[in-house]
Amino acid sequence: MNFGDKEFNDLLKTTDANFNWGVSSSALQTEGSYNSEGKGLSIWDVFSKQKKKINNGHHPYVATDFYNNYKTDIDLIAELKIPNFRTSISWPRIFPAGNGKINQEGVDFYNRMFDYCLAKNITPWITLYHWDLPYKLEQNGGWKNREIVNHFIDYVAMCADLFGDRIKNWMVLNEPIVFTGAGYFLGVHAPGKKGLKNFLPALHHAAICQAQGIRVLKSQLKNSNVGTTFSFSHIESYSQKEKDIKAALKADALVNKLFIEPLLGQGYPFKEIPFLQSIENYMIAGDEKLLHEVPDFVGVQNYTKEVVKHSFFTPYLNAKIIPATKRKVPTTTMQWEIFPESIYRILKKVADYKLVKSIVVTENGASFADEIVNGKINDHQRIHFLKNYLSMCLKAKSEGVPLDGYFVWSATDNFEWAEGYYPKFGLIHVDFETQKRIIKESGFWYKNLITQSAKNKHEIL
Ligand code: FCB
Repeated sequence: MNFGDKEFNDLLKTTDANFNWGVSSSALQTEGSYNSEGKGLSIWDVFSKQKKKINNGHHPYVATDFYNNYKTDIDLIAELKIPNFRTSISWPRIFPAGNGKINQEGVDFYNRMFDYCLAKNITPWITLYHWDLPYKLEQNGGWKNREIVNHFIDYVAMCADLFGDRIKNWMVLNEPIVFTGAGYFLGVHAPGKKGLKNFLPALHHAAICQAQGIRVLKSQLKNSNVGTTFSFSHIESYSQKEKDIKAALKADALVNKLFIEPLLGQGYPFKEIPFLQSIENYMIAGDEKLLHEVPDFVGVQNYTKEVVKHSFFTPYLNAKIIPATKRKVPTTTMQWEIFPESIYRILKKVADYKLVKSIVVTENGASFADEIVNGKINDHQRIHFLKNYLSMCLKAKSEGVPLDGYFVWSATDNFEWAEGYYPKFGLIHVDFETQKRIIKESGFWYKNLITQSAKNKHEIL
């Protein structure tokens, strides 16, 4: 479905003074300076050194050099009148060994960067864990080892202490199903572990950390806005055959329910995913309670939808994804289907959970092959994508979904995990040779709509 200008402008009127427009980013994907000023290695620094793990042998050691360039990027975000900037703290930059001794130079960097945002009237939204586990902890089992719960709690408490005077908006984890699924089941993300025996304990400990992180922040910081983020995708059955419908329901539970339901006190979705029952081997008395903590907001991250079919050969799930390229539907360069309705359906579903009072789309965006023509980047496909997805978000909002913000992924082009640098998600282009930035047309488009939304605010007042 495509939205016309009039429809889009009408939907934009649903936003008011409290709506949080923003851009998202993360430490590992941008900072670089991977081993300078006392920083410890992360699992991604080590994973990137291994052969054939990252497309083209790329690595995040320099990335967009945000560690040194943060002022340039924050100035550009300010120029685009984007009032909120989401990024993450690198755990190994603060605690090089994951626990114990603090790295003051790392703390100083975040102090400088947060202060600069605030000086530019940009509110920082901070994710505590965006996948860059300290390698030292991984050597000790990482997310598989239950000790991570205590280390994580100490890290969160320290960040609250250090930055809580200036940071109000927090997200505990970024997309736990992705870092446990891709990192500890499929082995395609760091640390490259595979199989249920790695996945189940990793997911259980991440689910405890997600709840306990919220608890710690809420108890230490009274006026905070504490959430956590989830990667959600609308799941469709390949056919109306019972087998396919069942497979789609299982995949839906795995992708869309596994982490949010225990957090909201509903426990793990054992009914839909029977193989999950073995997680009980890693649970101890009282764990159900530790999984449950109501966040102030739910961070929804959505890019695409998935079509799922029964598959006898896929272990545990008996379900497989039929890739968008096979179905010959329009995709981005990530080969993710462009399907704006996905975000609408997801928002409606999340809003149906009684305990969810506020939702923020903490990531949505698209990678396309941008072309520089006469020093400019006219990324009309990205504008089209964002306009349609955003319209779907605002349509959901106009129907009562408590949507309080929308963040584009991403501020700048950056290091896209196992894909390396070829996917371009930024509103701001980065030349990775020269570190020169160019604001894309989509950036100016976003600026205009934020300005327009601010005017609506005056009309409403
Ligand atoms: C999400 C990640 C984010 C980015 C986008 C494209 O899954 O949270 O870091 O890579 O995808």
